[in-house]
Amino acid sequence: MKPPSPEHWRGVLKPDSIPTPTPEPHQQTEEWFERWFRNPLYLKLYAHRDRTEAEHCVELILRAVASGPRPAPRHALDLACGPGRHSITLSRHGLRVTAVDLSPTLLGHALAAAANEGVEDHIRFLRSDMRHISFHQEFDLAVQLFTSFGYFDSPADDFLVLERVRAALRPGGHYALDLLNEQHLRASLMNTSTKWVDDLEVVERRQIVDDRVEKIITIHTGTEQMEFHESVRLYSPEAIALMLADAGLVPVQWFGDYHGSAFHPQHSARMLVIARAE
Ligand SMILES: C[S@@+](CC[C@H](N)C(=O)[O-])C[C@H]1O[C@@H](n2cnc3c(N)ncnc32)[C@H](O)[C@@H]1O
Repeated sequence: MKPPSPEHWRGVLKPDSIPTPTPEPHQQTEEWFERWFRNPLYLKLYAHRDRTEAEHCVELILRAVASGPRPAPRHALDLACGPGRHSITLSRHGLRVTAVDLSPTLLGHALAAAANEGVEDHIRFLRSDMRHISFHQEFDLAVQLFTSFGYFDSPADDFLVLERVRAALRPGGHYALDLLNEQHLRASLMNTSTKWVDDLEVVERRQIVDDRVEKIITIHTGTEQMEFHESVRLYSPEAIALMLADAGLVPVQWFGDYHGSAFHPQHSARMLVIARAE
């Protein structure tokens, strides 16, 4: 990894001129992430993002943080927990988990899955916008996995999330942030693709607009057509490293997939960074 260059972060946002985050924007108009993740079709389309993948990812993170001098983590925050696949896996590894998400639909699935596996007493589920969490040094580990970062219009809101995560961690605790790898995505983006998911025809149109990847998902049910939008800000490794550091989170390890391959800017599909709270 190259050391982070201040220019990259400055290109995104000047740390000394961070604008005030927009107050409760989701109360004014519905954001794409509220509408899409509330719809049960999200789980159908992303069914391949399953428990097996979550197990690899959690095992990698636990191995990575165990290589440091600190005792094994006991209490984890799963931010943007979705249907709970990482929360449940973390609890199976003996951690207490606080799982936060905005989507009532996905939280409902997470709660049902935890109950089904008999781990519901070890996981506290909370509905909140990630910008509004207010934990204070409760956790030794925070995870934010599978592209759950970069959703907001303003990078100031992304930065606010990092600050909230830093406040939630005990000093020396770890944060695992799992993002798309910008460079690889830009080089490999497929503009349009069509697939069948059971009886649904799904057309996905993607483009990169400035520093965001925009996806329009059109779902044909046979009788109906629905359209959803995804929009994610892409961060270079240098920019995210600097943004993390500005929030008091020092990057210590980088992986390029959930099996522990080293991060490679051109070839890695994922950018999983582990940072330590100062
Ligand atoms: C791509 S999914 C990933 C879910 C989960 N981490 C996983 O790997 O299965 C993104 C998640 O972020 C949640 N989310 C989106 N915006 C959020 C916000 N502002 N605050 C909290 N959660 C949010 C969604 O509801 C969804 O569960």
